Amino acid sequence: MKFTRQGVAVCSAVAFLFTFLFVVSENARATFQRRKSGNYERLNRKADELYNRNCARCHGPAGRGDTPIGKIFKAPDFTDPEWWATKKASNAILSTVVVHGKGSMPAFGKKLKRSDVNLLVSRVRRFRNNR
Ligand code: HEC
Repeated sequence: MKFTRQGVAVCSAVAFLFTFLFVVSENARATFQRRKSGNYERLNRKADELYNRNCARCHGPAGRGDTPIGKIFKAPDFTDPEWWATKKASNAILSTVVVHGKGSMPAFGKKLKRSDVNLLVSRVRRFRNNR
């Protein structure tokens, strides 16, 4: 095979193009990843705040339901795997409880936005793994 000058030029152009595309896509991927995890942390922080403000007095800062009011009202222990095992705890069911209340649990539908209720349900779920 003979290397012509044009051949070499075309090859370097293609190599350059591929390197360029790789760098651009790698950058885009890294940015996307960073944004995504930043967003996740921001939402988790927001969920924690909402929980501490609205729910912790009964359900406890760690979700154990072990505050004085939590004990009086018999708030469940969200860190107990058995509690979860006996529950049909779909997001729909849990968010309905937060919106409409249940037993001694007050309704939060008027106070909280739907998106906040969803964040709280995910917050409650994280207690299951003690997080
Ligand atoms: C005044 C105390 C009190 C507050 C405040 C409170 N809860 Fe509850 N919560 C309870 C009690 C008591 C139960 C158990 C209800 C039952 O099973 O009869 C309960 C149950 C639950 C359940 C389980 C529902 C089920 O299907 O058994 C979830 C989820 C929940 N609460 C989430 C929240 C969230 C989120 C907040 C904050 C927005 C909150 N609670 C605020 C007292 C409270």
